[in-house]
Amino acid sequence: MRTLQVELGQRSYPIYIGESLLGEGLIRRHIKGKQALVVSNQVIADHYLPQVLEELEGLECHTLILPDGEQYKTLDTLNTIFSALLEHGHNRSTTLVALGGGVVGDMVGFAAACYQRGVDFIQVPTTLLAQVDSSVGGKTAVNHSLGKNMIGAFYQPNAVIIDTQVLTTLPQRELSAGLAEVIKYGLIRDQEFYQWLEQNIALLMQRDAQALIHAIEQSCINKAQVVAEDETEQGNRALLNLGHTFGHAIETATNYSLWLHGEAVGAGMMMAAEFSAALGWLDKGQLPALAALLEAAGLPLTPPAEISAEDFVTLMSRDKKVLTGQIRLVLLKAIGEAVVTENFSNEALMAYLNSICEA
Ligand code: NAD
Ligand code: GLY
Repeated sequence: MRTLQVELGQRSYPIYIGESLLGEGLIRRHIKGKQALVVSNQVIADHYLPQVLEELEGLECHTLILPDGEQYKTLDTLNTIFSALLEHGHNRSTTLVALGGGVVGDMVGFAAACYQRGVDFIQVPTTLLAQVDSSVGGKTAVNHSLGKNMIGAFYQPNAVIIDTQVLTTLPQRELSAGLAEVIKYGLIRDQEFYQWLEQNIALLMQRDAQALIHAIEQSCINKAQVVAEDETEQGNRALLNLGHTFGHAIETATNYSLWLHGEAVGAGMMMAAEFSAALGWLDKGQLPALAALLEAAGLPLTPPAEISAEDFVTLMSRDKKVLTGQIRLVLLKAIGEAVVTENFSNEALMAYLNSICEA
C-alpha cells in the first residue's frame, strides 16, 4: 500500500492506494466517534458494501442507497442524506462514508460540510475518475437546474481510501473517462509522467494492477500538490481544468447525454493543445503523439459534428473562469507546462474553431 498526504495544515489527510484495501480496517481507523453513515448506490453496494460494513461492525452504522446517475446529484437527493442522519439520530461526532464515484462523493462531501455545520467524512472512490480527481481536494457540490456543480463548498475529507481492485467491475467507457483526467496531469505539470503514460497506455487499458497503481499514485501526487498550494482555486488550481472549457461546451450542447464528462475532456484537451499550437505556443510536432495517446485511451479527438464554432463561443463564454467577459482558457506552453490565460484574440479562437467544426 502507498500512502500520500494532502498537506493542508490542520486539515491535512492521507490518501491510501493499494489493491484489496476494503475490509482491512482503514475506514474504521479514521472514524473517531461511534456513529457512521455509509452512502452509496445500488450498483456499487451490490459489489462492495458488505466489505465496508464488515469493518464497521461494532459501530452504530447505517446505510443509505442513492439513485444512480448525474441527474440525481441534486438538492432533493442531498436532503435524503440529511433525513437519514436525522431519522437515525446521528450527532456531530458521526462520520459519513462515501462509497462510489464522483456523483456519490461530491454529494456526501457536501452533506458532511452542512450537517450540523460540519461532520467528518471519508472518501472511498470506486471509479478511476473519482480515484484520481474528485475524491481528492475537497470540492463538493450538487447541481442546480440552471448549472452543474453550482451549489457546493470546499470541504476536505478525513481520508481517501483507494482500492484499485474495485476497478475490475468498472465499465470500459468509465475507465477511459478516468484516463482523460490522468493524462491531464501529465499535460499540465508532469512531462515525465506523460512519457510514462505514452509507454504504458495499453497496460492501463488492460487494467494491469501495477500500472493502475502507478498512474493513480502519480495523479494523486500531482493533485495533492496543486490543492496544497491553492485549495480554493485563487490561482493555479484552475490548471486542473485543461480541456474542461471546450469539454463543458460539448457536454452542454449535447445535453449531457452523448459523452461522459471524461470523454468530453479528452476531445477538449486535444482542442486546447491544437489551439495552443495554432497560437504558436506549443510545438505542432507534439500534436500527433497526443492524438495517439488519447486514441489509445479510448477517447474522442474531435467534437461532435453537430456543434458549430458559434455554439462553442456562446457556451464557453458562460464558463466559471470568465471574469471580465473575455473567455479564459487553460492552454499549453509545452507538454508538462500549462497556463490559464486570456491572452489570445477572439478572432484567433474563432479561426481555430472554424477550422475544426463541421457544422
Ligand atoms: P459516477 O459517480 O456517475 O460513476 C459512473 C458510473 O459508474 C455510475 O453508474 C456508477 O454507479 C458506476 N460505478 C462506480 N463505481 C463502479 C465500480 N467500481 N464498478 C462498477 N460500476 C461502478 O461518475 P464519475 O465519473 O465517477 O464522477 C462524475 C462526477 O464527478 C460528476 O458529477 C462531476 O461533476 C464530479 N467531479 C467532481 C470533481 C471534484 O473535484 N469534486 C472532479 C471531477 C468530477
Ligand atoms: N477537478 C478540478 C479540481 O479539483 O479543482
